[in-house]
Amino acid sequence: MKLKEKREIMRLLFIGDVVGKSGQQMVTEYLPRLKRKYHPQVTIVNGENATRGRGINYQVYKKLLSDGADVITMGNHTWDNAEIQDFIDDTTKLIRPANFTKNKVPGRGYTIINVNQTKIAVLNLQGRVFMQPSDDPFAVIDEILKEIQNQVDVIFIDFHAETTSEKEAIAWYLDGKVSAVVGTHTHVQTNDARILPQGTAYLTDVGMTGPYDGILGMKRDSVIARFVNQMPVRFEVDEDGRQTLSGCVIDINDKTGQAQKISAFQINPDHPFFE
Ligand SMILES: [Fe+2]
Repeated sequence: MKLKEKREIMRLLFIGDVVGKSGQQMVTEYLPRLKRKYHPQVTIVNGENATRGRGINYQVYKKLLSDGADVITMGNHTWDNAEIQDFIDDTTKLIRPANFTKNKVPGRGYTIINVNQTKIAVLNLQGRVFMQPSDDPFAVIDEILKEIQNQVDVIFIDFHAETTSEKEAIAWYLDGKVSAVVGTHTHVQTNDARILPQGTAYLTDVGMTGPYDGILGMKRDSVIARFVNQMPVRFEVDEDGRQTLSGCVIDINDKTGQAQKISAFQINPDHPFFE
């Protein structure tokens, strides 16, 4: 009996916003160890800050895949590295927010992967509060769910958004319709991992991967100067200091699509990694 129960659980690992070389290094060092510890069937990595903090280029995209990511999600920095336009249409492993102007921009907003006959849809959506303009994420997700809900067993959403309220709103809107809604973008992990009543796993923000002593991953001096002087300052990734990795593990019943458990974790000097 136990064995059967065990087989019905799909485990998904999600790693939050990889920032610059420091974030890439953490993925290279810890993703294989995380896989040995948690045995996830699917690994998703948000890579929208992976190349020097802004967007992703081909080399870094390939590196995250070779380090063990199955799908890379993006966000408001999707187009910051123009090189992405050369390869985003040729891959199903890199997705950008689905509510970017419909049918007008390159790439795709979701992908479907097969793992041992379980079909998992991975979607990326972007919020609209304190963010650049985009299509309505609620309307876009409704449309996508109509297309895919009968074809897939598990649905994971990376909701890239600034405000807690918008993130909670979309999670409650989708409770019971998707397996998990996990927030990205704010770079600070929240302590609210939970399963909503109809079986949707939720975490407001998974947090970032990269510089531990920067401000949201950027060098502190320039961020502080911007607040002190109220003048524009160029931000650079803090590549030299200590490092962090933020993620979560979600267990989903692949027969019902409902999540059973979600736990967030961090790896950094304050939260050492144990095998
Ligand atoms: Fe972002």
